[in-house]
Amino acid sequence: MFGAPSMSAVASSVASCARASAARVPSRRGGYAARLGVGAKSARGASVVPAAFTPAGAKIAGVGMELPSQSLTNEDLAALVDTNDEWIRTRTGIGKRHVISGDESLTSLAAGAAKKALAMANVDAKDVDVIILATSSPDDAFGSACTVQAEIGASGALAYDLTAACSGFVVGLVNGVHFLRGGEYEHVLVIGADVLSRYVDWRDRGTCILFGDGAGACVLSKTTDPNDCCLLGFDMHSDGTGNGNLTSKFTSESQVCGTAKPTSESDGAASGVGSFANIAMNGQEVFKFAVRTVPDTLTKSLDKAGVSSEEIDHLVLHQANQRIIDGAAKKFGLGKEKVVSNIEKYGNTSAGSVPIAMAEAVLEGRIKQGDIVATAGFGAGLTWASAILRW
Ligand code: UT7
Repeated sequence: MFGAPSMSAVASSVASCARASAARVPSRRGGYAARLGVGAKSARGASVVPAAFTPAGAKIAGVGMELPSQSLTNEDLAALVDTNDEWIRTRTGIGKRHVISGDESLTSLAAGAAKKALAMANVDAKDVDVIILATSSPDDAFGSACTVQAEIGASGALAYDLTAACSGFVVGLVNGVHFLRGGEYEHVLVIGADVLSRYVDWRDRGTCILFGDGAGACVLSKTTDPNDCCLLGFDMHSDGTGNGNLTSKFTSESQVCGTAKPTSESDGAASGVGSFANIAMNGQEVFKFAVRTVPDTLTKSLDKAGVSSEEIDHLVLHQANQRIIDGAAKKFGLGKEKVVSNIEKYGNTSAGSVPIAMAEAVLEGRIKQGDIVATAGFGAGLTWASAILRW
């Protein structure tokens, strides 16, 4: 079916990670001492017992996805703005998108996806060490990872948010794998979730047709054999000079809120209420950025992994535009059967899109154990990231 990726590339990547981790990562029990080498001294000058460092790998043990119950078709949007089903399908590939309603929230979607991933992995929530929630639309400005943690009962975990827009899940996945490679943890839950419908201007036909809400998750579990590591190669970048092409800026009507120190004149008044503006996008510039960076970052990840494009079994890209997905597939000579696309059903779910596409492909029996998966995310920041995974 496909040739095995270069084991030497995997081994050298794991070994360099192990060396770096041995030098820097504190042990969960016993602090840095457990990681010190032969002849090392403790802070008080006494010799410490050398401990062998045991490099580990990470495997994807389970995946899950959650979508809001309500969806909006292209016809629904044509009733709101000057657009039509034919234009949206031809230019983007999107047929409908899901949007939250009622009690649904970023937390409820993320927790729903996480519970399913844990069930597939057969991992008890209490055994999760770290939860990384990739999102740009938390329910709370301080983040939503902790409310997800509470909702799923992962009482032993550190939970934190990661913001890298539509690249967030791929970045989170790479982060999660490195926690495990360091040998400190057993299970890391990586979630990608967004509810950008909260920030869409439903009068702007250039953006309201694109975005949908949703969440996907995966459980990464430690493997004792570093050669079993699912992450064969990765590549991650950002370029803040392009930030203005895709934004949802914090705005404040009050002089007090976020812009200046409270003055005596503001005494007695609550701070002004700030909010994030609607999404503003220069679609053509973001399109060009994606067409340029996605093949480039995938090529770099493939090189690092020692995997050729012919060895890719599945291409799972951020679902932003079918034309971007098709362009990348063509570049690598990948037929339709190797391209995972669900943009027609869900639109662009930002950080949710890659894990939802992965989860769905696994649940449909397309992605199987041992398959090589090439994935990439790209979007606001600007950010872009890719990874080559062995399932
Ligand atoms: O997740 C973050 C990453 N985001 C992306 O990757 C998005 C990248 N960009 C895109 O996918 C595309 O640029 C869009 C789908 C947003 C727009 O497609 P486009 O082919 O670049 O269209 P355009 O902006 O060049 O607009 C072409 C025409 C314009 O009309 P005129 O000036 O030629 O008369 C637009 O006003 O299409 C018009 N238009 C629409 N017409 C009907 C723009 N939006 C719509 C619409 N319905 N919804």
